[in-house]
Amino acid sequence: MKKVLITAGPTREPIDPVRFLSNRSSGKMGYALAEAAVVAGCEVTLVSGPVCLDPPAGVKLVSVMTASEMYGAVEARIEPMDLVVCCAAVADYTPIRMEEHKLKKKGTDLNLTLMPTKDILGSCREVFGYRKTLVGFAAETQELERYAREKLARKGCDWIAANRVDEEGSGFEVNHNEITLFSADGQVVELPRDTKPQLAENMMRMLIGE
Ligand code: PMT
Repeated sequence: MKKVLITAGPTREPIDPVRFLSNRSSGKMGYALAEAAVVAGCEVTLVSGPVCLDPPAGVKLVSVMTASEMYGAVEARIEPMDLVVCCAAVADYTPIRMEEHKLKKKGTDLNLTLMPTKDILGSCREVFGYRKTLVGFAAETQELERYAREKLARKGCDWIAANRVDEEGSGFEVNHNEITLFSADGQVVELPRDTKPQLAENMMRMLIGE
């Protein structure tokens, strides 16, 4: 039985006890991939940021909140995996510290200092030593192919699933998406607009060959 790890959903980076930085990811794409992998007969670990979805039956759910927690959860579980798909919308920056108490409104500008988070997908090869199939996503609002190919190479992926996140009816939050897959060995696979479960099924069939 193939072992698959999928990251999904957003991360939340705390500013103070009541505020955080996050993004629009609903988890739908990642959860659909997890479901498709279970249906394909895989043992699935789903590392998920905070979402309002029930995990698909049969997955091992690992719930995390921050980019740092997601990094640790992937690092601890990646070694035996046959396929890793990083679909989560991980924060690229996090506040340098979380304020102990709720920030008070002062009527003047507020500056937040942010520091970069660790790149989970980009750590899989060089830091975690993972050698099997690695798939990333690229969420872009311009120059989809150029930026996706750049991420494919920089992060050491076998495949990158490129999607636009500025088009109505596709991308973040909604039930549909449109994906172009680029492989490290030059293949290009177009998955035209469809429901996320159908796209996930097509992707999984291609990635695990069943
Ligand atoms: O959740 P939905 O509402 O269904 O929306 C689906 C989606 C648009 C979130 C999904 O299809 C998608 O594009 N996921 C990737 C979002 C993203 O953060 O893309 P990116 O281009 O910023 O990141 C590139 C890759 O690096 C991604 O695989 C990401 O998981 C990974 N990454 C990024 C930063 C970081 N610190 N660690 C990472 O692993």
